[in-house]
Amino acid sequence: MKTIDIDALKPGMTLAKTVTNSDFIVLFLANTVLNEKQIVLLKNMKIPSVCVKDEFDMSKLYQQVISLKSKDSSFNRGFNKINKLANKIFAEIKTGGDIKSPIIMLVARILPLADDAGSINYLFNLGHMDNTLAQHCERVAIFAGIMAKWMDLDWAEIRQIVTAAFLHDIGKFKFPPTFLHRTVDDFQGTELQLYKTHCQIGRNMLRDLNFAEPIPTAVYQHHEYMNGSGFPSGIRGKDIHPFAKIIAAADAYDALISERPGHVKKTPFDAINLFAKSQFSRLDPHVCVPFITRIKDHLIGSHVILKDGRKGTVIFYPKDFASLPVIRLEDGTQINLNLERNLSIVKYEIT
Ligand SMILES: [Fe+2]
Repeated sequence: MKTIDIDALKPGMTLAKTVTNSDFIVLFLANTVLNEKQIVLLKNMKIPSVCVKDEFDMSKLYQQVISLKSKDSSFNRGFNKINKLANKIFAEIKTGGDIKSPIIMLVARILPLADDAGSINYLFNLGHMDNTLAQHCERVAIFAGIMAKWMDLDWAEIRQIVTAAFLHDIGKFKFPPTFLHRTVDDFQGTELQLYKTHCQIGRNMLRDLNFAEPIPTAVYQHHEYMNGSGFPSGIRGKDIHPFAKIIAAADAYDALISERPGHVKKTPFDAINLFAKSQFSRLDPHVCVPFITRIKDHLIGSHVILKDGRKGTVIFYPKDFASLPVIRLEDGTQINLNLERNLSIVKYEIT
């Protein structure tokens, strides 16, 4: 990998790192093979330099070492197996095949990953690798499983939640491929009305496939919000099935941490902030409070980089309701991020 001046970029070069602008909005993902148009765009955006892959990165030997390295983690092994099975299931859905048995196998493979808080870190780092609908559904299923576990639900319920979470966007398969990688915020007008029908289409597909309740209902309601601002029915509070509320939270979490062009990839620290605010509006506090409590414990001790480039360690959260931590910087000074709202955490690493 080498850093090169923007004027030295040539079509065909491969980005080694994701390129963001000064506001951390993603312009191009790592592994993008640049064309002429994209290079002109980078110049117009006044990006001074980028990291591209050099001959060694592209060599067969290096690729073999990297693939061995990534296969070495048990999380990656588990996630790769899930990914293969998920792709098969989605292919079956398109052709109207039976998916019930492979779904049972898939959920059995997802559950061990949902049992480990470390999956939050692995998935944060994995977000940029592939943003297909299948990977979105896999991540939402894992997050929903983690949230359900942190709510101390029983295993039968967790299994149903993971199943519904994996299938939550199944209705999108009836849409044109251009719809598949977009979120609700990307649609307007008649396109938005069409997008909203994926909840009902998904419920009907699951009923046709003989999935028992409450899975079809949870899928139908996964865009409903506690304050009635969701869709398709705009129902609120107790009228929303508890499983749908967990999937809504897992979906919101994934939208936050995903790396996709035009968006700022946020960290789990930002998710705490979002959940702390949303528990009084869109999301259910019964989901948010255990999530916030457990994830805070998990993040203490992690190494972070702040927006201004300074590095430090998360040492504690000052109060139970504080959504941001206190950081000890490398020079020993402490910063309470709740009092320094212009500083945010842009990267983190668990020790
Ligand atoms: Fe959806």
